[in-house]
Amino acid sequence: MKLCVALDMAKKDDCLALARELKGLDLWLKVGLRAYLRDGAKFIEELKNISDFKIFLDLKIYDIPNTMADACEVISSLGVDMINIHASAGQIAMKAVMDRLNSLPKRPLVLAVSALTSFDESEFKSIYNSSINQSVINMAQITYKSGLDGMVCSVYESLAIKSVTNDNFITLTPGIRPFGEENADQKRVADLTTALDNKSDFIVVGRPIYASNNPKEIAQRILSQI
Ligand code: C5P
Repeated sequence: MKLCVALDMAKKDDCLALARELKGLDLWLKVGLRAYLRDGAKFIEELKNISDFKIFLDLKIYDIPNTMADACEVISSLGVDMINIHASAGQIAMKAVMDRLNSLPKRPLVLAVSALTSFDESEFKSIYNSSINQSVINMAQITYKSGLDGMVCSVYESLAIKSVTNDNFITLTPGIRPFGEENADQKRVADLTTALDNKSDFIVVGRPIYASNNPKEIAQRILSQI
């Protein structure tokens, strides 16, 4: 299991300072919407200049197939290692993205977002008219058929996704509260043992690390337990 640290802080300099602090640790960095909209491709470059971090650019692309393929081609040109799109954009859109990216000399890993970890059952049902589990299984099947590398999901769907696809199909799970920290807006949260038991391949941890008094120590404690 790999640790992916979300650089979701309000200021670019704080994100860069955290990256410098984490330099040398065996982890990935996640750049999200706020940082990318604010600081753009330059920010990715600056992170890469600090260390040869693996970078997950979490932009959750969701649009019509051709627009998604165009966007993902541009995102891939930034030299990041993993990107994501929404599974609910559908199989035709996901296939269009993969056809486009597979025609490039090199492409990042591509994951599909299933049910956001901020959804509980009732909010999810009011939008998708289905249970989280059933929808995630359907999404996993079309994502796998479309040739993506894995899914973003909660820890609680990781095993089901692998059972309807295969064990090497990546599950990346946000909503991790390593040592029982505040849930904040997350609903389907889990600790490290639960993530390990459910074969999560990547855990994403944001606030429990960057909002703590000693982010490096928390990251090291997480790494020593996984
Ligand atoms: O601070 P926290 O650990 O809750 O951060 C989780 C990170 O993972 C945030 O950057 C959020 O955007 C992202 N994420 C998520 N749920 C998803 C996909 C991504 O929380 N389904």
